[in-house]
Amino acid sequence: MNTVQWGLDYYTGLPEVDRQHQELFALINRLNAAKSCSPETLDQIFAELRDYVREHFGLEEQLMAEAQVDAEHYAQHRAAHAGFVARLDQLWEARGEGSEWVAEEMLAFLTNWLVQHILLTDRKMALEIHTRMGTQAPHNMFEHF
Ligand SMILES: [Fe+2]
Ligand SMILES: [Fe+2]
Repeated sequence: MNTVQWGLDYYTGLPEVDRQHQELFALINRLNAAKSCSPETLDQIFAELRDYVREHFGLEEQLMAEAQVDAEHYAQHRAAHAGFVARLDQLWEARGEGSEWVAEEMLAFLTNWLVQHILLTDRKMALEIHTRMGTQAPHNMFEHF
């Protein structure tokens, strides 16, 4: 798998969210680079990623609650997060089989999900938060919504 690069396409204009997205990409790249390392190393990076994902989703859900975003949007976004956490847990259970496909499948799933989620769901969230909080939405970033 190629490395994932954070760029302006992922920009939300919410500084802590953007910082955490960059950290998530860095963790994915570390996991990718460690694919052929010992199971202990993979376990350690994957555990860091699982924890960080939970922390990150908590932050977004807190920001949405503070901005009082639309209740349906909030519920859908939370459900998307919960679904991803459940899938991560399944992959965590499956990792014990130790075969390379688990790492590959995990990385492909993680990367695709996070990229799509940030591009669509998180940026939609950011637009609504900026609108409700009266803060500046990032320039030209949301014209397709
Ligand atoms: Fe996010
Ligand atoms: Fe999110």
